[in-house]
Amino acid sequence: MANTILVGAQWGDEGKGKIIDVLTEQADIVVRSQGGNNAGHTVYLGKKKFVLHLVPSGILRKRKVCVIGNGVVIDPVNLVGEIDGLEKMGIKMGSNLLISETAHLVFPYHRELDAQREVLKGKNKIGTTKRGIGPAYGDKAARTGLRVLDLLKPEKFAERLKAKISENNAILKAFGAKPLSYKKILADYLEAGRRLQPFVGNTVVYLHDACLANKNILFEGAQGTFLDIDHGTYPYVTSSNTTAGGACTGSGVPPHRMDSVMGVLKAYTTRVGEGPFPTENTELSDFLHGMGREFGSTTGRARRCGWFDAVATGHAAMVNGIDDLAVTNVDGLDTLDVVRVCVAYRCGGKRYDHVPADVDVLAQCEPVYVEFPGWKSDTSGARQWKDLPSKARTYLNAIAELTGARLSIVSVGPARDQTLFL
Ligand code: IMP
Repeated sequence: MANTILVGAQWGDEGKGKIIDVLTEQADIVVRSQGGNNAGHTVYLGKKKFVLHLVPSGILRKRKVCVIGNGVVIDPVNLVGEIDGLEKMGIKMGSNLLISETAHLVFPYHRELDAQREVLKGKNKIGTTKRGIGPAYGDKAARTGLRVLDLLKPEKFAERLKAKISENNAILKAFGAKPLSYKKILADYLEAGRRLQPFVGNTVVYLHDACLANKNILFEGAQGTFLDIDHGTYPYVTSSNTTAGGACTGSGVPPHRMDSVMGVLKAYTTRVGEGPFPTENTELSDFLHGMGREFGSTTGRARRCGWFDAVATGHAAMVNGIDDLAVTNVDGLDTLDVVRVCVAYRCGGKRYDHVPADVDVLAQCEPVYVEFPGWKSDTSGARQWKDLPSKARTYLNAIAELTGARLSIVSVGPARDQTLFL
């Protein structure tokens, strides 16, 4: 497998959790390198459903080491809760989980500020997960954040936390929000630090040694390309680099160690939160929600749904350098008469073959569609490429060609065996 970066090629929720779980069979180490518990990776093992937020999905397989890299922002209390929840479901954690000592911490004031800023933005809100991700990365960039290693030095941590709480309470007061209790946060965080200490280490050196020992490393991306702070539909984005480059900076593994990039995409498009979405389609949304599909795994929000957008996925292939594609949720389209694919945008008499940087322009773009006949049969039982109806194969080949990468995996349901390798 060598070292593979896996990224979402749309707006997140592409079904990465399942693909990561399947690919992990061939990996020795799985690394999270950005985002925080805004992510929700859903994996089904038999009838058991696991939703992972911070712990890499590799934890569900034995003898795999899972690394939470330096680029991740960690809410330690939440992470302890996730570890406890997994242990209750029979997943043991010991030397198979490693947490970077330089990852930044998320605090309750980040969450509160996230919520207050959304209220202030009113109709221009981003639609965040309210997990405090933006304010936590804001502190990191402003060089005022606290890191995992600070948590392990109780006296100094207490002093720095006190200053942070008093500063943030003053800001929260200006918003008209309640002040936070320093004592409670200190107690909760020190306890979380005590619980996490056995897992904390220098993940950069660990991964460097793993590269020298020719271990196979899978970098599991969270969110998706168009939520990237630099390449996404700014400001309707998350606050980390969700694109392939983020795997290097967020783990300390240099670019020349990376062997390939896999892009995960749905056979249609979804987005949660606000922001432009050219192929959004109410009928398709109602149809998918009616099937019980497309509700967020972190916030439970109904996802906005639309047709496959090949302008967006082609753009994603460009910025990530995608070699291979994993197309998920093909079975979601099984009963449709016609399936549409956006091949260009039109705006003000101009044709766009790439995603315009200005969200005001993107919001006005009208999709140019080509239509494919629906395959009108159940694909969920397919186990090999040749089991798929020929119209489904034509559709999948077309979206791969339009995206500009090799079709390598097709997923027709949540189970591990509902995965077709080409
Ligand atoms: P934040 O990451 O909570 O700040 O949210 C910023 C934007 O990213 C919002 O539109 C969220 O809905 C979206 N977002 C964040 N995490 C995910 C995810 O894991 N899947 C899909 N969308 C996400």
